[in-house]
Amino acid sequence: MEKELYLAAGCFWGAEHFLKQIDGVTFTEVGFANGHTDNPTYKEVYTDTTGYAETVHLRYDPLRVSLRFRLEMDFKSIDPTSLNQQGEDRGTRYRTGIYYTDPADEPLVRYMMSEEAKHYGLPLQVEVLPLTNFYRAEDYHQDYLVNNPDGYCHLPVELFAYARNNRDTGTVQKSDTYRLLLRQAEALADGETDHIALMSNFAALLHDALHFWWTGFYRVVGDELLLGPFQGPVACMHIGYGRGVCGTAWQQRTTLIVPDVEAFPGHIACSAASRSEIVVPVYDGDTVVAVLDIDSQHFATFDDCDRHYLEQLVALLCRP
Ligand code: SME
Repeated sequence: MEKELYLAAGCFWGAEHFLKQIDGVTFTEVGFANGHTDNPTYKEVYTDTTGYAETVHLRYDPLRVSLRFRLEMDFKSIDPTSLNQQGEDRGTRYRTGIYYTDPADEPLVRYMMSEEAKHYGLPLQVEVLPLTNFYRAEDYHQDYLVNNPDGYCHLPVELFAYARNNRDTGTVQKSDTYRLLLRQAEALADGETDHIALMSNFAALLHDALHFWWTGFYRVVGDELLLGPFQGPVACMHIGYGRGVCGTAWQQRTTLIVPDVEAFPGHIACSAASRSEIVVPVYDGDTVVAVLDIDSQHFATFDDCDRHYLEQLVALLCRP
């Protein structure tokens, strides 16, 4: 499982060198993003008339490094309040931007932007947009600072050591916990066909291992979701199709990750303490028969790592 992201962070020579040293980043290349000409060359982009931003395309392993950690690192390497200038490099090609290819990443990116903005008294100038196009730059720009150790760099060298010496231990530990938990869930599911019994034990297992605020299931009963086995405070019992995060995940037949429940239109607040949420549909064959809903008292708790393991976990419920 790999994810990708496109980051414009000033001159791409230094930006790539910084980003590639973060644990969990598996691939980087530099190029030009979100412009309006075909096959731009560096020389053309340098004229600042093509609309392109110097951009690093990166892939990362979300089981080792979260998008949240990745963005926190990115913010360390840019001045997010500076418009079209990073260090001494000026021009629209040096603007900062976060260009995503997975629309599911957008809510977290926007949440992180609002968090980052709290550190400044000025508006942030970082663009947050879907990637519209990307062209790989000429070969001599790739790994520029590896091939030219004394080459120009707008970033301080200390930042590269910082990238090397800090890893997303939270995500690494979470992965380990989930792997163990999956083995326990497999043992529980072995030979057991009663969904309610299994849901009860899965809710207990998750709650015990990960200490979330509310962990439980809603089952599809008729045309609504009905509260099923759970751990945590009292919760609402009926949720309509397409209503709240749970009903929307059922309707869209997809896992939904909500970093800030207040920002999700129609969110149903069973508890005022809940800040973020993940809802994973449970399938029996092709039919959604339930959803797993987990709430956290903290913002932005859930990410692709949780999605990866929780989807595997709920798949154990209705094994043929
Ligand atoms: N917040 C959910 C409702 C269920 S409670 O979180 C337990 C939703 O919006 O669907």
